[in-house]
Amino acid sequence: MNGAPLVEIENLRVDFPIVRGAERLLVRAVRGVSLSVARGEILGLVGESGSGKSVTVSAIPGLLPPRAVAVGSIRFEGTELLGRGVRFLRAWRGRRIGMVFQEPGRSYDPLQSVGSAFLETFRVSEPRLSRRDSDDRAVALLEEVGLSSARERLVNFPHQFSGGQLQRIGIALALAQGCDLLLADEPTTALDVTIQAQIVDLLRRLRASRGIAIVFISHNLDLVAGIADRIAVMYGGLVLEEAPSAELVSAPRHPYAAGLLAAAPSFGSHWTTAALAPIPGRVCDPVAPEPGCPFAPRCSLASRECAVAIPELRPVAGGRRLTRCIKDTEYGR
Ligand SMILES: Nc1ncnc2c1ncn2[C@@H]1O[C@H](COP(=O)(O)OP(=O)(O)OP(=O)(O)O)[C@@H](O)[C@H]1O
Ligand SMILES: [Mg+2]
Repeated sequence: MNGAPLVEIENLRVDFPIVRGAERLLVRAVRGVSLSVARGEILGLVGESGSGKSVTVSAIPGLLPPRAVAVGSIRFEGTELLGRGVRFLRAWRGRRIGMVFQEPGRSYDPLQSVGSAFLETFRVSEPRLSRRDSDDRAVALLEEVGLSSARERLVNFPHQFSGGQLQRIGIALALAQGCDLLLADEPTTALDVTIQAQIVDLLRRLRASRGIAIVFISHNLDLVAGIADRIAVMYGGLVLEEAPSAELVSAPRHPYAAGLLAAAPSFGSHWTTAALAPIPGRVCDPVAPEPGCPFAPRCSLASRECAVAIPELRPVAGGRRLTRCIKDTEYGR
């Protein structure tokens, strides 16, 4: 992908102050993440629960809770959304950046019909748009995302749709607001596999037809590898490896990525007789993270130097990929 990045995150750190008993503590949710997404690119984000995927992505449109402390820089088309002295510019919320969530219902007002949700969305930029014109445009978008009987369904409310249909409507609403970047946080996790495949297919099609960029978060590495151009693997609030999808799944360069692959059913298969190997040990404590590589305490290959300081994310394989592992090893699958 050529040109300047659409969104560029540099050294993002996010802490949540919490109170545990009499103690005031900090949850170190994100500890220095740098990521960029080009126009029309699909970036996959994977990692175990608690690794910081949602917090990283929610920081882009400024959707973190007010008590979160975020530092670093986020630029969208060169405009600073987070930076020195810049709080989140709320005007960006929900405009050029769209978001779909794991629970399809989270994007909707349960008391608002689909037609009026579209009207409200269109009127942000065109306050004088008529209901009839809004309905026509909504129908075109709903048909584009594959919702059947779109015109008749404008009068329906969120509870009258299935999860897959709600995700389609959510995607259509993001398109209605003219988004160039869609942040999809586990958009298919709550859906059955057939619908899951359809939504992934829809996103892929929209990237091709409209050139929107997508950040696709999932626990399912196979699913991510099937849609993303590039994958970033997160753990302990850090990106541990980043690589083009095909290279990451065929030859991971970080033992954590290799572990995730070994714990997932084999690539492209729907059933397997091979034993899956869960990663041993417990996920890292975000309140008191290890001083070194966050994965070191669970890594069978770790040596003493891994626990000293957080290794740099450094280029390997001629600069096409990045790893934080200090051992220059290809782990295979
Ligand atoms: N509002 C909050 N207050 C305190 N801690 C939080 C808050 N939101 C997230 N965290 C913590 O930040 C860390 C990263 O959370 P995040 O939701 O980004 O993980 P994730 O990778 O998206 O996990 P999952 O796969 O379960 O969605 C976790 O330790 C989580 O408990
Ligand atoms: Mg999450």
